[in-house]
Amino acid sequence: MRPVLDQSRELIEFESVGSTQTELAAYVKLGRRDVAAILAKEQTEGRGRFGRTWFSPGDGSLSLSLALFDYADWPAPQYIGMAIALGAAEALHCGVVWPNDLVPPPAHHGLRKLGGVLSELVKDPDARLIPVVGIGINIAVENFPQELQVMATTLHLATGEDLTPIDACKRILSGIEKVPEPKNWHALALRWRAIDRTAGKLYKLPDGRVASASGIGEAGQLIAEVDGERVEVSSAEGLFGHAT
Ligand code: BTN
Repeated sequence: MRPVLDQSRELIEFESVGSTQTELAAYVKLGRRDVAAILAKEQTEGRGRFGRTWFSPGDGSLSLSLALFDYADWPAPQYIGMAIALGAAEALHCGVVWPNDLVPPPAHHGLRKLGGVLSELVKDPDARLIPVVGIGINIAVENFPQELQVMATTLHLATGEDLTPIDACKRILSGIEKVPEPKNWHALALRWRAIDRTAGKLYKLPDGRVASASGIGEAGQLIAEVDGERVEVSSAEGLFGHAT
């Protein structure tokens, strides 16, 4: 993919912010093109997918949002978040689960989540849709709230790496540049499969049923099984748990 930053588009850092995603989306809406990335040490109102909150303490987490100006009005926006997750996972040597969660690498037996990606389209003043992609990584979070303890892990526990947020951020930005252009699923599929851990994971389907993943289809959709039936969906909420 094309570089996120260049001479006219910089990264800015915050000690603490509500949400890097909300902040960067506000810049995009105002037509600012000089900031393409926001990195924060701490978020007080971090946002996850499906309206969930995202835990981003000042110690040990990475909160990064990217405005992908070169991908304005991209015809296949559904692959952008997956491409960013793939680039980040390759750069940090971890695994991925559909559609864009970061988990320990395939050699590891645990499937707790260590990072996630939130992909949104934000309209700029010229009515162009700019992808704004947020990446949250538990680099070395020490104390998760009780409700996250069974389902969350850290990059440090999963890979043994000790990275500062800025080093992780640099790695992610260069990892993204190594990912093929996300024109279709085919462009990403081979690389994704090498680190994919989707099969067997449980998902809540839009109709509320809980399905077990079988894999990812030709268009990047989730293929899953529920009550002996094969289903294909483009959106579903990953649940903690694995089919036995
Ligand atoms: C998920 O639900 O898995 C996605 C989590 C995305 C969290 C990141 S942290 C940086 C950016 N700012 C936010 O408020 N959310 C995203």
